[in-house]
Amino acid sequence: MTALAITANGLRKSYGDKTVLDGVDLAVPEGTIFSLLGPNGAGKTTAVKILSTLISADGGQARVAGHDLTADAQCVRAAIGVTGQFSAVDGLITGEENMLLMADLHHLAKREGRQVAAELLERFDLTEAAKKPASTYSGGMKRRLDIAMTLVGDPRIIFLDEPTTGLDPRSRHNMWQIIRELVSDGVTVFLTTQYLEEADQLADRIAVLNDGRIAAEGTAEELKRLIPGGHVRLRFTDPAAYRSAASALGEASRDDEALALRIPSDGSQRELRALLDRLDTAGVEADELTVHTPDLDDVFFALTGDAGTPDQPKEAVR
Ligand SMILES: Nc1ncnc2c1ncn2[C@@H]1O[C@H](COP(=O)(O)OP(=O)(O)OP(=O)(O)O)[C@@H](O)[C@H]1O
Ligand SMILES: [Mg+2]
Repeated sequence: MTALAITANGLRKSYGDKTVLDGVDLAVPEGTIFSLLGPNGAGKTTAVKILSTLISADGGQARVAGHDLTADAQCVRAAIGVTGQFSAVDGLITGEENMLLMADLHHLAKREGRQVAAELLERFDLTEAAKKPASTYSGGMKRRLDIAMTLVGDPRIIFLDEPTTGLDPRSRHNMWQIIRELVSDGVTVFLTTQYLEEADQLADRIAVLNDGRIAAEGTAEELKRLIPGGHVRLRFTDPAAYRSAASALGEASRDDEALALRIPSDGSQRELRALLDRLDTAGVEADELTVHTPDLDDVFFALTGDAGTPDQPKEAVR
């Protein structure tokens, strides 16, 4: 039996008459990466804030690092590190000074603080910029500094609320590497992300938050298996052809901006032929046809009550 770093039972939180969390259960084993996914406004940040003692829940219980969230909030705080969705970096002082401030907050001795700060700045590729005001950093550098600051106290459990939002692909991959290293040192990571690929790449387990509840929880593979099949995506350049195809394929979900249709399909030859026959009958031809096997995006759309109507066109063809 692995010990659990984080458990939650029936967590509830409302703002006014808006219920944000409506009975959330979580169990995160020590030394693993757990990812909380959900659409904007689903309550991910609220969950992180509750579990990191920044705000209190209206109901339910949770234990973090073996301590009860309400009874032992101080002990919880001593065991965790939190990188919020919005930066904790102070732009008026240098990167190094930000780090030293954190070291002070963690009551590290001056000398130790300097050493820890230098090591982390190095690890996050910020040594060169260390003496410059953080306000002059790029978004990605600020994000890296933010996470470096979280690690100053050597926390055993880390909450990362959208750690790679705004990072370029290389920085994102570097961040993933850092997160993996943390976990190989036994740290537990609780991560929220908008990037389903990120959860797919990193997380041991994923929970999808929707309507205040966990709509599904499991490994990426388990979640993908929940979705019966993949889909075919048809893209058009001619708006008239797009409209004809949309009316011929009534069950298709539409992405009017991208002129793309998404039709549930198992990708078999038989289904593809039937689809092409229907397009032929309607006298339209797609400019592009791609077959998608289920990925986490599909799981996300299926579980978050938004099936097949991404508000952002999905460009990736895997
Ligand atoms: N302090 C607050 N007062 C009132 N409503 C709030 C407050 N904080 C959050 N909310 C509401 O709670 C809901 C969940 O917000 P939360 O920030 O947890 O979502 P999220 O899943 O982190 O979204 P995003 O992906 O955009 O970061 C939203 O409807 C939000 O407007
Ligand atoms: Mg958020």
